[in-house]
Amino acid sequence: MNYEMLILEKKDRMAILKLNRPNALNALNSQILLELDKAIDNIKEDDSVDVLIVTGEGKAFVAGADISQMKDLNAEEGRKFGILGQRVFRKIETLEKPSIAAINGFALGGGCELAMSCDLRIASERAKFGQPEVGLGITPGFSGTQRLPRLVGVAKAKELIFTGKIIKAEEAQSIGLVNKVVDKESLLDEAISMAQSIIKNGQLAVRYSKMAIDRGMQGDIDTGIEVEANLFGLCFATKDQKEGMTAFVEKREANFETK
Ligand code: HXC
Repeated sequence: MNYEMLILEKKDRMAILKLNRPNALNALNSQILLELDKAIDNIKEDDSVDVLIVTGEGKAFVAGADISQMKDLNAEEGRKFGILGQRVFRKIETLEKPSIAAINGFALGGGCELAMSCDLRIASERAKFGQPEVGLGITPGFSGTQRLPRLVGVAKAKELIFTGKIIKAEEAQSIGLVNKVVDKESLLDEAISMAQSIIKNGQLAVRYSKMAIDRGMQGDIDTGIEVEANLFGLCFATKDQKEGMTAFVEKREANFETK
């Protein structure tokens, strides 16, 4: 599969997906969103991949949805464009494999929304975050109004969205928007190292954990608890559980089948 605006590299059970439209700060137009959609399908189907890393080429992670493309849209076209981004980002969020956003620079508007659709976020100290849409006369439209309050709380999300202010990586970490801030040279290595820490474990257990957390966070706690019980039970039908616990008893490293 050839991509014009993405670079997809696979190695050591990881897929590294780089947005590659640096001249427009990786702004999301329909083409790059459709390419992302295809790339995620490809990663979903590829049994050699356990973890997805998303990053950007150049000085931005993503500086938002493409303003030039949106400028002349009417209401119906705007709604459709929003739905396209929502659909692609939801596909990333619900990918059974864990995802890490390695945020190398600006993550604004749709860029912050893309980062939030990943499970984990590692930021370069130079990264900047914000939902500046209201300054353009629009709302966040790639599910930022939904994911930001879930991540940082309603009051902080409203402050960021109503003011459109841009915050530095350090503040993003302090409000729980990013997991970790690192210097720019080590960003990808840190993301890879986090991916390796995930990959060494039983992958079915990782995926079931993701499913249980997400189902619980997106619904009521009683349903979440039931989902957890069912997935926990299913683990005991896996070779990984036998191997993981036998390895512990035999005082050796586990060698998981799903690797
Ligand atoms: C289209 C963009 C863009 C964007 C940058 N560019 N952001 N093009 N859409 N979101 C283009 C610029 O036009 C310019 O192209 C080139 O990228 C480099 O950008 P500069 O502005 O020259 O860089 P710099 O001075 O370093 O400023 C960086 C910046 C600024 C602060 C990030 O580019 C900026 O404010 N961008 C817009 C940020 C934003 O408002 N994002 C939210 C978008 S709305 P040329 O051809 O001139 O070199 C959104 C909605 C999501 O995301 C939901 C939709 C449904």
